[in-house]
Amino acid sequence: MSNSSIPAAYSPPDRLLLGPGPSNAAPSVLQAMQQPLVGHLDPTFIDMMEEIKSMLRHVFQTENEMTLPVSATGSAGMEACFVNLLEPGDKVLIGVNGVFGTRMCDVAERCGATVTKVEAEWGTIIEPSAIAAALEGCKPKLVAIVHAETSTGALTPVEELSRLTHDAGALFLLDTVTSLGGCPVAVDDWHVDAVYSGSQKCLSCPPGLAPVSFSPRAMEVITGRKARVQSWYLDMNFLASYWGSERVYHHTAPISMNYALHEALRLVLEEGLEARWARHRKVHEALKVGLTKLGLSITSQKGHQLWQLNAIGVPDGADEAGVRTRLLSDYGIEVGPGLGPMKGKIWRVGLMGHNATVANVEHFLDALGQCLE
Ligand SMILES: Cc1ncc(COP(=O)(O)O)c(C=O)c1O
Repeated sequence: MSNSSIPAAYSPPDRLLLGPGPSNAAPSVLQAMQQPLVGHLDPTFIDMMEEIKSMLRHVFQTENEMTLPVSATGSAGMEACFVNLLEPGDKVLIGVNGVFGTRMCDVAERCGATVTKVEAEWGTIIEPSAIAAALEGCKPKLVAIVHAETSTGALTPVEELSRLTHDAGALFLLDTVTSLGGCPVAVDDWHVDAVYSGSQKCLSCPPGLAPVSFSPRAMEVITGRKARVQSWYLDMNFLASYWGSERVYHHTAPISMNYALHEALRLVLEEGLEARWARHRKVHEALKVGLTKLGLSITSQKGHQLWQLNAIGVPDGADEAGVRTRLLSDYGIEVGPGLGPMKGKIWRVGLMGHNATVANVEHFLDALGQCLE
């Protein structure tokens, strides 16, 4: 490449990220990433890793020893749960009411598992009666549910699903990529055996880390496996040694991302979980009031609408993609399109973490109103 063809340094525009994620990181989180690098086995970094684990336990509301951030995005958190818990021939029951339940099925099948899907219309929740009926027909090792379906804006209540799962002798796996930090997630009270999340949504950190947590029961299954975990990188037995007291080298932790997560979790703790959830609820309610004034509404099932991800119905005759393009070009606001059967029918508006403010809601409603005129 000649000198004249080397691109200029990338200078990203300033965007308000109100899509399904990533959402904007808090300023102090971005500052934390500019700190000097240390080695990943530096004693101060190791102390910081301990603090991350302990803050993650608080945010997940768990005492699980095996709680750590996997060095990759939320999908790797998903894979980490499935590849460690499943062996070829195992049976698994998966709730499918959007993109991420569908992705879980793909991941589980690649582990050699036999998947039974419990499907619900996109935008609605997975009902306990549907899981109960499916459990009668098969004896799965694992039941997996997406708590907050980012593709549709529905929040499935999980306590009853977890109870049914355990009564059937199975493990309960939960995706909390969009819920963690934005609405209650109580891993121990809900008896969740394996849970994963992502750094880039309500934790207000850049994408790149996937917090996971495994109950002692899930760890027994992992340590007692017949076959080795299919993935070397995501094998929790190795990650346990790296993140545990032995500090056995496994991979080079993404140093700056861990600085960022440490700061993001500190901010969550400083605000307090209850206050943070209340803030997400308040901005969601404010958005709904404003949408009604514009003649618009949220399409996900009433009573189960996510606070942090709002699926807004595109009105008849509106140019769905054109509105998104104008929001971005004229107002610097990013919102998400609908996926799969929701394509062209909804805008997905995230009000997550640092971005969950009434000021952002007002700015967005004002811009949307003008784009629709
Ligand atoms: C519910 C849910 N699960 C899993 C994922 C996958 O996470 P990532 O895109 O960080 O790999 C996402 C991402 O949007 C998500 O919303």
